[in-house]
This record gives sequence, C-alpha cells and structure tokens, in this order.
Amino acid sequence: MSPTPTLSTETAAEVRARFGTPCYVYDRAALEATARRALAFPAPFGFTLRYAMKANPSRGILGLFRELGLHVDASSDNEVLRALRAGFAPETIQLTSQMPSRQLAEHLARGVVFNACSLHQLEELGRIAPGHEASVRLNPGLGSGSAKRTNTGGPASSFGIWHEYLEDVKTVAKRHDLRLTRLHTHIGSGTDPEVWKRVTRMTLDLAARLPEVRIVNLGGGLKVGRMPGEPSVDLDDVGAHVRAELLGFRQRDGRPLQLELEPGTYLVANAGFVVATVVDVVDTGRDGYVFAKLDTGMTEVTRPSLYGAQHPITVLAEGRDEADTIFVGPCCESGDILTPAPGDPEALGPRRGPRPAIGDLVVVGGAGAYCAAMSTLNYNSYPQAPEVMLEADGSLRLLRRREPLDEIWRNEV
Ligand code: LLP
Repeated sequence: MSPTPTLSTETAAEVRARFGTPCYVYDRAALEATARRALAFPAPFGFTLRYAMKANPSRGILGLFRELGLHVDASSDNEVLRALRAGFAPETIQLTSQMPSRQLAEHLARGVVFNACSLHQLEELGRIAPGHEASVRLNPGLGSGSAKRTNTGGPASSFGIWHEYLEDVKTVAKRHDLRLTRLHTHIGSGTDPEVWKRVTRMTLDLAARLPEVRIVNLGGGLKVGRMPGEPSVDLDDVGAHVRAELLGFRQRDGRPLQLELEPGTYLVANAGFVVATVVDVVDTGRDGYVFAKLDTGMTEVTRPSLYGAQHPITVLAEGRDEADTIFVGPCCESGDILTPAPGDPEALGPRRGPRPAIGDLVVVGGAGAYCAAMSTLNYNSYPQAPEVMLEADGSLRLLRRREPLDEIWRNEV
C-alpha cells in the first residue's frame, strides 16, 4: 500500500453531500489488505494476530477484523465488553490494562485472557483465581516511540513489570500456584524497527527464565509512515528477524514458542481519513502566515496537537496558485493546529499546496488510528463526527451517525 493513500474527489464530495463534514471514512479494501499482510507473519510455531482495538474501536472495523480471524488486545474492562458486543469469542480477547480490572472474575469465568501489568495485578489474579494460567507484561528495560509520550519501555515508563523484578513475579505466582504460560512486552508506538528487533531478543531472554512460558507476545508498535517519504516498518525484514530468533530459541532452550503480535496503528492508520471543509482563510500579513481554518482539527485528529504528529492534508482544488499554508481547526484554542512542525506541537509547519479557498473539500489522511478513538469529544460543544465505511465497490456505508446535539448535554442533571 502506498504510504499516502487518499480519497478520490468524487468520494470525498459524496461523503460531504450525504453525511456532512467533518466525517471519518475508513477504506475496507485497505483494512483487509493490511490485515492479510500481517496475518502472513512468518512465525515458525504458531501465530495469533491481535488487533489493539484502542486504535479504533468502531464496531464496523472490529467486525471486519473478526471475520478475518484476528483476535483482540483490549485495554480496559470496557473494551472487553465492546469486543464481546462486536461478536469476538471471549477466549480471543486478551486484557492488558493500566487500570486494575474491576471485573476480573467475570472475565476469567468467560474465558477472557488476562495479562497482568503490575505485581499488584498479578496478586489480584492469584487471589481471585489461584491455580490459573497467567500472562505477565514485562518492561524489558528499553523502549522506543514516535515521541516520548508514545514510548512505553525503559525506566521512564510505568507500563508493565520492571524486568529486574522477575524473581518477584515468580514468587507471587508460586504463592498462588499461578502457571506463567504467557509473556508480553510492548515498548511503544511508532517504534524504531531496529529497537523493536533488539527487544525481541530481550523478551526471549526473559522467556528463557520462565520455563512454563509457551506464548510470547511482542506487542504492537509497528511503525507506519503517514507522510510522503516517511518510512514504514519493513514487515518482511522484521518477520525474518523474529522467525530466526524463535528458531534460535527453540535450539537453545528446546521450547517452540507461539508468537502473538498486537498492532493497532499498522492495521488501521493509513486506511482512515477525515473529510473536511475549509471554513475560512486568514493571514497575518506579508511576513506572517496563511491559515486555512477547517471544520476539523483537534476535535477529530488530536495527534498533531499532542505529539506534533504529521498527517497528510490534501486540498481538493485544481488550477490554483500554490501557497504555504498552516491548517488549523475550529476550536478557540491556539493549539488546535493540524500542521505543527514535525515533532514540535508548539511550532508551525506550513504545507505547500493549492492556495485554499472557503468551501474547498479537504482530506486529512493517516486518520484511522488514534483519531476517532482519541477525539477531544465535545470541546467547544462540537458533536462527535460520524464514521463511514468506504466499501470495496465504492459505496459508502454509515457506521456511526453524527452525534445529535442534545446527546452532548443528555447526562446533565
Ligand atoms: N499493545 C499494547 C499493550 C498497547 O498499549 C498498544 C498501544 C498497542 C499494543 C498498539 O500499539 P500500536 O501498534 O498502535 O503502536 N496514541 C498514540 C499511541 C498510543 C498507543 C497506546 N498503546 C498515537 O497516536 O500514536
């Protein structure tokens, strides 16, 4: 798949005419293609692909991935319930949560897999289900992310049990007769593929010290370039590396480890778009900037304001002069910027393209992961935007309608 797919003008115009803007659009063919690509990961002793549903928990996407045979990584009790509602069998759902589960007994009774992310969580599991099989998430001591805020490994990260506490893990497990059959690491999002590969070995070295482990889960973090020229992970290269590592482990240790991966970004990022409209154009004089104000911004695509993340923005207009434009959102918030400087949410990063005019259709790309899921819901009382599936035959199917205004204040008493 090309790193910067976009929508045709025809499709974007139909989206606007039928559903209004801003509107999320997900491309079914692209979703299927990446899922199939990831499902072919060359694990030598069995493979499970989990979808990290926090990236985009839309039922339309969950249903599609369920049909393709993916399992689920759920990040909260509520995500477990949401995955069940989307038809996933309990035993295909694994809960990996910062928040200690409040429904652990129910989950376990159903067959949901629980991944303990702290010693406290492991104690809880032992107390509720002594003798049960257990999975632990370890912090292997190294992490890497697209930004510091998306790094979940190393000493500056609270995620998982610090690797030096492996003996404590064993002690807790022994006290409750838990069998440590699964090991999990996830070191960040937008991870440098070389670091990701190194952590594979670090994880296997930890598995070597847990003799009952049969399944190793290397998390998500497979890097996806959203901008033209931005590199994406080479899945063949990573696959060959992990395969060799697992074969090597088998030779050294005797155990054929089953592999699990749980990408979010990789599976959905470049299959999602926001269709928007230019609602105003202003500038700050000769030495200043041209600003295109869109009806989408941090409300639908929060990543640029949070991380200085870069998303492709296409103005669907022809025959215009070029301009260097800053794209901003509709919120009364100077941080509502869709084009910050790369990696610096505080600075501006103008984009070269057709000079925008009021009424232009705009497509924001790379918006399938952590956009609808992380919207700054209802800020400035803008309603939650609708979600639409672009089907393989080119037709559009509404997944979730635009939030009616009275829903915003429905729970006020
Ligand atoms: N597994 C676990 C335990 C996770 O916490 C995550 C993401 C994933 C898998 C999937 O990671 P991915 O393949 O998507 O990189 N909001 C940030 C990313 C935060 C990810 C949180 N956990 C962003 O917009 O990039």
